[in-house]
Amino acid sequence: MADKKARLTVDGLEEVIELPVYTGTTGPDVVDVRALTSKGLFTYDPGFVSTAACESSITYIDGTKGVLLHGGYPIEQLAENSDYLEVCFLLLNGELPTPEQKEVFVKTVKNHTMVHEQMTHFFNGFRRDAHPMAIMVAVVGALSAFYHDSLDIDDAHHREVCAFRLIAKMPTIAAMCYKYSIGQPFQYPRNELDYADNFLQMMFGNPCQDYVTNPVLAKAMDRIFLLHADHEQNASTSTVRLAGSSGANPFACIASGIAALWGPAHGGANEAVLTMLQEIGDESNIDEFIKRAKDPEDSFRLMGFGHRVYRNFDPRAKVMKQTCDEVLAELGIENDPLLKIAKRLEQIALEDDYFIQRKLYPNVDFYSGIILKAIGIPTNMFTVIFALSRTIGWISHWSEFHSSPNKIGRPRQLYTGPTKRDYEKK
Ligand code: ACO
Repeated sequence: MADKKARLTVDGLEEVIELPVYTGTTGPDVVDVRALTSKGLFTYDPGFVSTAACESSITYIDGTKGVLLHGGYPIEQLAENSDYLEVCFLLLNGELPTPEQKEVFVKTVKNHTMVHEQMTHFFNGFRRDAHPMAIMVAVVGALSAFYHDSLDIDDAHHREVCAFRLIAKMPTIAAMCYKYSIGQPFQYPRNELDYADNFLQMMFGNPCQDYVTNPVLAKAMDRIFLLHADHEQNASTSTVRLAGSSGANPFACIASGIAALWGPAHGGANEAVLTMLQEIGDESNIDEFIKRAKDPEDSFRLMGFGHRVYRNFDPRAKVMKQTCDEVLAELGIENDPLLKIAKRLEQIALEDDYFIQRKLYPNVDFYSGIILKAIGIPTNMFTVIFALSRTIGWISHWSEFHSSPNKIGRPRQLYTGPTKRDYEKK
């Protein structure tokens, strides 16, 4: 695999260090720096901007061209022709399913949708006004206390059972978080419904009245799941891989991913977008917020703009924007005041030099928040829905990690603290 070499000279070191350079199937070459530690050197890369932490064959991103491929398939084509559960199969297995494989996969997911009845009591320990992400992170971690029979991480069958359990139970848990917060009884999953339909039923149905889903909204929901399914080595996925590298059980690893996703610089951005739009309040205030976003002395950032990897339009954002238009037209709410602010903000940012020079485009979260609001999902559930969707990405990467020889993740540091000194009482 190493058909090229990099050569490194370091002041004070006589030898030239030769490092192998690997070429993947596509994307930038990678310099293997593992030999440096034997020369008394570490690499330094805060934020991992230049570091490939692993080898992976699940997802490919070209941020400059705005390309996202799962198993080689462009996200736009998957969004147009596929559905969330099919993409789940693809991420887990590397290939699209045949019709027979898809049928078995969907049936197996449906067979795992209920959570252990004992888990319902777990919710009672939370305040009703707890943030649903706080409940989600705890309840998903607690799954490890309920499903002992699939925790052997070295057993491929156990890993597969865990994947099914997580894909199937996340919508149930997410909807339970919501129902708990509004004081309504939990809705059991309905296995005759499609994945997205079932989620909306558990969110908005109640025992007194059947919930009938609007197909446009169910399709939009499925698309939101699909577009968030995986995004290679982002902060939460890297967290799951790192937690998994210690041999921790999969439910605990996914809980660590949920925690990493929660922050506003990552999955918390969709909630932060809506909060920001509410804060702006009126189109007349937009200029002031744009001014603040551009001020280097002000920490305020336009939520839903910019991306570490994409220096171009996020391909998911393009599909999301189209879905956003479909949903708003279906619901007849094109004149929503927050939406007007969002559209104006998008226009200004796309034309403003500051954003153009820094290649700051609206990201997927800018539009997903608007769609979720239109569907009737409360703002504090937005990141929960992201977590639900991303679970397949996390579990696929976790599974990939355990399917081949691996090492515990253990970064080093550039130490800048005091050197050795003797203890003296202060
Ligand atoms: N608003 C205003 N300025 C911004 C923004 C923004 N949203 N994002 C980046 N910038 C500016 C920075 O201030 C910096 O300017 P400078 O060169 O004058 O110092 C420049 O653009 C580069 O920004 P970095 O912070 O170096 O970019 P980084 O890759 O570290 O950050 C991030 C990426 C965290 C996504 C950032 O763009 C951001 O905070 N965006 C808002 C939050 C958001 O929408 N997050 C969702 C990401 S998508 C996802 O997780 C699915």
